[in-house]
Amino acid sequence: MPSVFIKTYGCQMNERDSEAVAAQLLAKGYSLAPDENVADVVLLNTCSVRDLAEQKALWKMSALAGLARKAGRQPVLGFMGCMAQSRGQQLVETLPDVDLVLGTQKFHRAAEYLDELLAGRRKKIVDTDAEAGSQATIREHLLSGGAGKKSVTAFVSIMQGCNQHCTFCIVPATRGEERSRTIPDVVTECRELVGRGLREVTLLGQIVTSYGKRDYPLKEGKSAFVQLIEAVHEIEGLERIRFTSPHPKGYGDDLIEAFGRLPKLVEAAHLPLQSGADRLLKLMHRGYTRERYLTIIEKLRRVKPEMGVSTDIIVGFPGETEADFEETLSLCRQVEFDQAYVFKYSPRKDTPAAAMDGQVSAEVIEERHLRLLTLVNELAGRKYDALIGSTVEILVEGPSRRNPARYEGRTRSNKIVVFPGGERHRGQLLELRIERTGSFTLYGDPAVIGMDDVDDDKTPLEPPTPELNLVSAEKHQ
Ligand code: 5AD
Repeated sequence: MPSVFIKTYGCQMNERDSEAVAAQLLAKGYSLAPDENVADVVLLNTCSVRDLAEQKALWKMSALAGLARKAGRQPVLGFMGCMAQSRGQQLVETLPDVDLVLGTQKFHRAAEYLDELLAGRRKKIVDTDAEAGSQATIREHLLSGGAGKKSVTAFVSIMQGCNQHCTFCIVPATRGEERSRTIPDVVTECRELVGRGLREVTLLGQIVTSYGKRDYPLKEGKSAFVQLIEAVHEIEGLERIRFTSPHPKGYGDDLIEAFGRLPKLVEAAHLPLQSGADRLLKLMHRGYTRERYLTIIEKLRRVKPEMGVSTDIIVGFPGETEADFEETLSLCRQVEFDQAYVFKYSPRKDTPAAAMDGQVSAEVIEERHLRLLTLVNELAGRKYDALIGSTVEILVEGPSRRNPARYEGRTRSNKIVVFPGGERHRGQLLELRIERTGSFTLYGDPAVIGMDDVDDDKTPLEPPTPELNLVSAEKHQ
């Protein structure tokens, strides 16, 4: 049977879509290729949020096609996801080696289309049509934590699309209108996952706080999203619930109160800020003011003082003055985010902001990006350092991605903790004492778990490998 290699760019939703396509193909008898250069099928799951992400996928496809030709191979090459959706037919016209273009509502048809192409029944397939009910079609899971080991945590897609229409954002065009799965459908999927040993779920969507608005009326003052969280919370054996990506205005009092009431809902809140200046927030069509934003964070911290607060910020939105930018800096100083992803504004096709006056020069964007990144990293670094000496609860996910000789898990507030653990700790909730910090990483003290618990084949105290600084604009590539 043919082998497939899938490379993913962009957000967690893309990771989830790729995983579901891989699971679908495995169920049809495909195998997963160890490397893109030996695969019979290579699929690039693309991101359109910024131009750089699109360019990377385009370069990658040209390189893949070139290498295959040189080696005398003819793999089936395909684009899927957001850039496939926004560029469609144009992709096969400009890159003649591309055989398949699969839009964001068509992931569930990947196997059927690949069968057609591999059998030579069709030469090229481009399908970017809308499909009713497609929000409920991404349900297969791979559930492999690597090397045949069980996963501990999984993404569950609860809705697709976004109706917010922020003026900089291409997502409403690539993911379409908001469509939600039903509460029983999501609960069934989560229950199945827990039945297969998972302990944590992350509820996913482009704007999860708008989940089910049209389908489920308010119940006792609770939004559809809070009703969903409550239903998932009932699942026995599930330990933790996360969600992403929310909109700040979606943190109503019902959701804030849920953090205090529902113990499985962890203390981690992502609130994409975008700008600290009211003038820009309005131009961006964000639907909140600086003051409202600060009030939400204050309320969240009142309910849960240990809340991990993260954000996304864009620098260089059209018309951004030095004074506007300084308002963003001052807001960051005031809030002290645990993590902030800083993006350089990138004009996107058919978005209102791309046609606005006052486009900011690349030099200014570069300079502001560096200044903001320096500030948010320094503030976050202090927050991490303040945890030294404290005891945290982590859910162990598996070997550390930075140093496979160690194990890692995440705190409830979404901070990665690396510790000298063993395979037996996978899936366990462990209390660890934080002994030191690295770049956006905490290092746990093995004394608390007891050296006896450490696998003998691991070196417990070997120094960590140098880490990459993960907080940059690289998240969505
Ligand atoms: N340019 C730069 N950053 C963008 N984002 C979305 N659209 C753009 C754009 N055109 C960022 C926002 C969003 C994150 C996912 O990507 O900060 O929250």
